[in-house]
Amino acid sequence: TQISLIGAPTDIGAGARGASMGPEALRVADLGPVIEAQGFDVIDRGNLYGPANPWLPPQNGYRHLAEVAAWNKAVHDAVYAELGLGRLPILLGGDHCLGIGSISAVARHCREAGKKLRVLWLDAHADFNTHALTPTGNIHGMPVACLCGYGPAEITGMSGQTPDIEPGWVRQIGIRSVDQGEKQLVHQAGLEVFDMRYLDEMGMRATMDAALAGLDADTHLHVSFDVDFLDPGIAPGVGTTVPGGPTYREAQLCMEMIADTGLMRSLDVVELNPALDERNKTAEVAVDLIESLFGKSTLMRRGS
Ligand code: ARG
Ligand code: MN
Ligand code: MN
Ligand code: MN
Repeated sequence: TQISLIGAPTDIGAGARGASMGPEALRVADLGPVIEAQGFDVIDRGNLYGPANPWLPPQNGYRHLAEVAAWNKAVHDAVYAELGLGRLPILLGGDHCLGIGSISAVARHCREAGKKLRVLWLDAHADFNTHALTPTGNIHGMPVACLCGYGPAEITGMSGQTPDIEPGWVRQIGIRSVDQGEKQLVHQAGLEVFDMRYLDEMGMRATMDAALAGLDADTHLHVSFDVDFLDPGIAPGVGTTVPGGPTYREAQLCMEMIADTGLMRSLDVVELNPALDERNKTAEVAVDLIESLFGKSTLMRRGS
């Protein structure tokens, strides 16, 4: 497999400044070489361009809608191009609003290739708000809703079809912060959420078995890794920390079980905020976990 790193240095959808520095922090933590050491060819495509962050208050329930749309268009085109070349794109965010561009591109690619799509959404948050439900107006709280067709024209249907994806294609893991109105929409849409209560009761192994159930060789597995998925004790460098997330060990098992499927064909790494980090430690933890996602294991497994 050939891998392409795509940087999207923006915090346009977030409520704190700084995720715009995420791509470089991941590079400084050696993301490319670490993946290469697992036996992959890696090309770093550099960074995309987009509008600066004007840091304005929300209008009609959205903050920076036009700028969010422009960034997502750039991400969509870049991710779609890499998939067309048969490569595995890794989107280096940037905040999680960029999941709209990335996953709409994956959806378009899968539709054209006749592949099924499964999206694993690793996050503390459901990111299923709408302009009417959001307490903040920050569009990084809305990407799953937009992809499922609940959103404004500017950022829905980017794959060429609305909705871009079905809620039934998504599995959310690690969720522990869902806003009041958002909860009802999650329930109404039928999103499958493995929240922290589920993880506490069942453990990471049974959770991942359930989240990965039903995959086959015709499934494209997309992983959208919001770094705030992790417990803030190991990953303080994010804008929206929520206590009580997966430990380092639990997160490692999560990544290893995804790697074992051999089906991951695209990845987002988002919400890393170096302005809030401690000597790049969150970037380093993220890179350690991504190393496992690309197959690092302590002993030989699967005949490797
Ligand atoms: N639910 C909150 C909101 O809508 C927080 C969203 C956080 N999302 C994220 N991708 N970190 O503002
Ligand atoms: Mn998120
Ligand atoms: Mn989050
Ligand atoms: Mn390391």
